[in-house]
Amino acid sequence: MCGIFGYIGPKTNAAKMVIEGLKSLEYRGYDSWGIALKTDNDIIVYKKTGKVGEINKLPKNLLGKTELAIGHTRWATHGGVTNANAHPHFTENKEIVLIHNGIFENYFEVKKQLLRKGHKFTSETDTEVIAHLIQENLKRHDFEQSVKNAIKKIEGRYAIVIIHKNENKIIAARRGSPLIVGVGKNGEYYIASDVPAFLKYTKKVMYLDNDQMVILSENSAKFYEIKTHKEIHKKMIEIGWDSQTAEKGAYAHFMLKEIMEQKETLYRAINQDDRLIKKVADAINNACGTYFVGCGTAGKVCLTAEYLFSEIAHKHVNSIFGSEFPTHHHFITNKTLLIPISQSGETADTLEAIEVAKEVGAKIISIVNVETSTMARMSDLIIPVKCGPEKAVASTKVTTAQMAILILLAYASIEKLSEGKILLLETAEKINDMLNPGYVMHIFKLAEKLKNFESMYIIGRGANYPMALESAIKLQEVSYIHAEGFAAGELKHGPIALIQKNTPCIVLVGENGSKSAILSNAMEVRARGGYIIGVSPTHEEVFDYWIRVPEVSIASPIVNIIPIQILAYQLAILRKNNPDMPRNLAKSVTVK
Ligand code: G6P
Repeated sequence: MCGIFGYIGPKTNAAKMVIEGLKSLEYRGYDSWGIALKTDNDIIVYKKTGKVGEINKLPKNLLGKTELAIGHTRWATHGGVTNANAHPHFTENKEIVLIHNGIFENYFEVKKQLLRKGHKFTSETDTEVIAHLIQENLKRHDFEQSVKNAIKKIEGRYAIVIIHKNENKIIAARRGSPLIVGVGKNGEYYIASDVPAFLKYTKKVMYLDNDQMVILSENSAKFYEIKTHKEIHKKMIEIGWDSQTAEKGAYAHFMLKEIMEQKETLYRAINQDDRLIKKVADAINNACGTYFVGCGTAGKVCLTAEYLFSEIAHKHVNSIFGSEFPTHHHFITNKTLLIPISQSGETADTLEAIEVAKEVGAKIISIVNVETSTMARMSDLIIPVKCGPEKAVASTKVTTAQMAILILLAYASIEKLSEGKILLLETAEKINDMLNPGYVMHIFKLAEKLKNFESMYIIGRGANYPMALESAIKLQEVSYIHAEGFAAGELKHGPIALIQKNTPCIVLVGENGSKSAILSNAMEVRARGGYIIGVSPTHEEVFDYWIRVPEVSIASPIVNIIPIQILAYQLAILRKNNPDMPRNLAKSVTVK
């Protein structure tokens, strides 16, 4: 949610670099953007609604020589999508400039106090209030102290980056929203919400943790605890990702690239240290209650855990959306095991669930793709998903890899890890075969038939019920078609009233046990005029359109969701939507 990128160092094309870096952060928000660059004794700010501008179309003065620049790509929270609300925000006297990610929860109170002191605001944002708060402090204190004093007044989660027209430094601080310092050559530093922004230049990073600030100048990065102002020594970490995997390559969109990467991501996800998987399985067996917690697609993966553990290990585990966790915290004790599932490791609602659970001493083992994320650092142990960067807003490759890890854990909890591994290796091989150009074209043809429908339904049973919900999210996110997922057996209790002539209904057929029941449900829909799209290893009479998936028994949710990802992608293309940047959404939701 909102992307931040800044640079200080000897390179004189800082502004160009920041604009390019912002493009790789657009998945975090793309309703408006802006940049501030420092000249000798001044700051130039340029901001605009829409996606980050093309360098060759920008005003010339933006691309003059500068060694210090910061930029922002926004996902609006406070204030509409306007040029004025875009970041960076100046103070009234144009002395400092600030960019921000997060929500300043008590901003209104502070704004009222500042208004009484005569401050005039030009935007509706909470961010501008922070800039004014710093300006008020600058009357009595130096730059660093003013920032510190202002930050102490902020309630909520934030990442902020500030520059002063007379100082050759970047000050940044965080609580809750990510900020990572990239360490370049020759005393240069980058600061960003996520590593792809500077991966082209360096893989060496230092993480800012909660309630810490950093002061970056040429040749030095000094980290402090905000409360005590004690200096902290940070460890330098080398990132395993390379810049190529963070780029689109030959694909038109990241979403398609990431869908196709599922030919190999499953292999990587299941290539785990057996001791780690057994250790986590033991923790599940010994816990007094295991809770899987996540949001959005990761939340649906959590729900599959309930079914997979029940089917494979005959064990009860709980799943809950991060945002709903506050009502469950009464059951959490120091014997509970919390398993957060997340791609980014930065989702605010999931992080908050971890904080609540940690307070009572619960154990935290996360299944997370970004191994250096806040979530990973808050956990007692992590299982890395190993998918490499996932940049399209709609999650695809990480979803299936996370489910593969759940299957490994469920088998390991009954001491049958190798059985689970064999099943998943076979599944990975079959996905490799499945994702061929002919297969993709067959689904593209279906998209052509469905592109003008305004509603569709998806049904599943058992572990395919969460995948029916996930299918609906995929279709909503990128095609903007109204889509709803149901437990197939529930259809007759209400939703079947929505079926009319030709209403598309996707049927996710699971393993043999539930097959005849869901085919009966499909028949009920067809009898009322529904157009049945069967996702199934075998062709069935009830299907009007058949999408073949491999037979993989309990791993069927993994293979069943892939054709729906392809369908959603192609519907987005046919309906002229950008699948990588769907309206109103952001990849990493760092606000509550
Ligand atoms: C956002 C994204 C979803 C994602 C969810 C959770 O809503 O648009 O694709 O599933 O956040 O993200 P996480 O990084 O925690 O998996």
